[in-house]
Amino acid sequence: MEKTFAMIKPNAVQSGLAGRIIARYESARLSVAAIRLKQMTKADAEGFYAEHIGKPFFAELAQFMTSGVSIQLVLAGENAIAKVRAINGATNPAKAEPGTIRYDFATSMTENAVHSSDGPESAAREIAFWFKPEEIFEYEANDQRAKSVL
Ligand code: CMP
Repeated sequence: MEKTFAMIKPNAVQSGLAGRIIARYESARLSVAAIRLKQMTKADAEGFYAEHIGKPFFAELAQFMTSGVSIQLVLAGENAIAKVRAINGATNPAKAEPGTIRYDFATSMTENAVHSSDGPESAAREIAFWFKPEEIFEYEANDQRAKSVL
C-alpha cells in the first residue's frame, strides 16, 4: 500500500476540524497508519520546510506553523499520494475546487488547513522526518466500514 504524509495545520485543529478532515481521508479508503499531535518548534519548521527557507513566505509560514498544535499523519492506501492531494485541493484556497478541504476550510495561502506530500520522494522524506518505522502501522482496512460513511 502506498503511504503519504499529511498534516492538519494549527488553524484547522483550533477550529475543531481535525475529526472531519480525517473522516474525509478515511472515506476515500485511506487508513491512518501513524498519528501525532505536536506544536512544531522553530527547528521543526526549518527542517520540515527546508526547501522553502529563503522564500518570501517562509517567515510567515514558520510563525504560523509554530503558533499552535498541528496533527501529523501517515495515510496508507491505493494511490495515497495523489488521493490526498486531490482531497486537499490547491495550495492557494482561491484556486481550490469546491468539495476539497482547502475550499471548505482554508482561510489564506498560509492558513490553508492541511499539508500533504507532493510525490513519492517527498512522502518518504516527510514520513521519516516525523515518524520512526515502529510508529507506523499497516493493517487491512475494513471496506464495509468505509462504505457506511461514503
Ligand atoms: P504546504 O503544502 O504546507 O507547503 C508549503 C506552504 O507554504 C504551503 O502549504 C502554504 O501554506 C505556504 N505558502 C505561503 N505562501 C506560499 C506561496 N507563495 N507558494 C507556496 N506556498 C506558500
